[in-house]
Amino acid sequence: MLNVAIDGPGGAGKSTVAKLCAVKKGLHYVDSGALYRAIGYCLDGQGVNIEDAAAVAAGLDELSLRIFYAEDGQHVEVNGTDVSPFIRTVEVGAMASKVSVHGPVRDKVNAIIRQTAENYPVIMDGRDIGTVVLPDAPLKIYITASSEERARRRLLELEKAGKPHGTLEDVQREIEERDYRDMHREIAPLKQAEDAILLDTTHLSLDEVVEKVCIMIDEVNK
Ligand code: DC
Repeated sequence: MLNVAIDGPGGAGKSTVAKLCAVKKGLHYVDSGALYRAIGYCLDGQGVNIEDAAAVAAGLDELSLRIFYAEDGQHVEVNGTDVSPFIRTVEVGAMASKVSVHGPVRDKVNAIIRQTAENYPVIMDGRDIGTVVLPDAPLKIYITASSEERARRRLLELEKAGKPHGTLEDVQREIEERDYRDMHREIAPLKQAEDAILLDTTHLSLDEVVEKVCIMIDEVNK
């Protein structure tokens, strides 16, 4: 099974690149962050303190999670409700980052995404895909960019989607806080896998990044 693991910090364009490469190369795209977002969004919405490990573990037991695919890509359903339209905001990104430090949350997400990787050849993006979720993936890519460039891209994405956002400085600050939390947590911190290829996209266009990743996929597929 050809599995491609894409990791890197928030706003580097991982999901956009992975989605486009999935279409070009006939792979199944899996957005692992969407599951953390869905959990953070639902628990926070229920008034659970998402920084309290015991409260999160208790709330998690009541959540039944499922991913499904529609024409516009991956959706996440929680207890029968599709939460996908509500989870791609800066606020929910921060909730996902907070909730993802807890072991039971990571176990729940990993069970779902590993199952998907057993059923399909996948291109999966997240923070720990190459290091923890799919350590044997034949292709691992660590996609990054400067925090200023990532903030600029995230702001454009939010503006395009008509979603609420602050100034460029607000978005950059949020991104840097999230980087710090994701890189310094105890379980499965964000880091480049030893055998991952580093792709710094700060000065590359989206087309250039997609082309580079497609070439890497062709190389391992030979
Ligand atoms: O990729 P994203 O922005 O949707 O991810 C949101 C948060 O979820 C991210 O800040 C940390 C967490 N996450 C994680 O811990 N592990 C993953 N594999 C994916 C996301």
